[in-house]
Amino acid sequence: MSERLSAPTTSYEHPADFSEYRTRDGSYTLYSPLLDERYHSVHGAVQESFHVFIRMGYAATSAMPLRVLEVGLGTGLNMLLTWVEADLAERNVEYTALEPYPVPPALLAALDHPAGLELPERRATFLDLMALQEGATAQPSAHFRFQLSTRKAQQIEHIDAFDIVYFDAFGPANQPEMWTLDVFQRMYRALAPGGVLVTYCAKGVVRRTMQAAGFTVERVQGPVGKKEMLRATKPL
Ligand SMILES: C[S@@+](CC[C@H](N)C(=O)[O-])C[C@H]1O[C@@H](n2cnc3c(N)ncnc32)[C@H](O)[C@@H]1O
Repeated sequence: MSERLSAPTTSYEHPADFSEYRTRDGSYTLYSPLLDERYHSVHGAVQESFHVFIRMGYAATSAMPLRVLEVGLGTGLNMLLTWVEADLAERNVEYTALEPYPVPPALLAALDHPAGLELPERRATFLDLMALQEGATAQPSAHFRFQLSTRKAQQIEHIDAFDIVYFDAFGPANQPEMWTLDVFQRMYRALAPGGVLVTYCAKGVVRRTMQAAGFTVERVQGPVGKKEMLRATKPL
């Protein structure tokens, strides 16, 4: 049977029932019973974020400054991990995140990713970053600059503007309109030549959609609980 993505006929409605959920590495994510969807893998939010976006993405690139586009900021875990890495390596990072459905501040405070990572000193600044107004920029440390946008993936219009895309959408079953050729073409155009896109997803149909958009795609080692994930490169 060939794999297919269901046609994106209905428009996505973000449920209001997301609440805290403890994953197997002890870190927390959000879970919605209505959507039956989580912001991270049940096998571990931190281990998944670190593996997919830092180890297989950030650390596999050499651009300096590194211009990151995150599609789906969510609870901000990828952003926090990248900020920490940038400071440790003294690597300049310019991080732009898209999030049309911001997580309520009270839920972000309860999740408390900085405390989970034993970085309580970053808590107040992290929450300030997560509450930035549309288009506003902040520089929380010498090596990290952050900009937040409420625009959707379907509205990406940048050209050659980023070195890496962290594509962290909900899965194709719940949000097929995130995994279309049009969205991958937008992310392809947004990347500079040689730029990479990483995602936890390893579906064959997603890999073929990326290839149709122009990417060269590799299947690489997945995070705990998943054999593979995808890394796509825009040819030079
Ligand atoms: C898997 S979660 C992201 C997890 C996140 N990176 C984190 O560290 O918590 C998917 C995110 O995509 C966001 N999203 C939904 N529709 C979107 C759209 N059209 N464009 C961009 N992001 C969208 C959701 O609100 C949600 O925050």
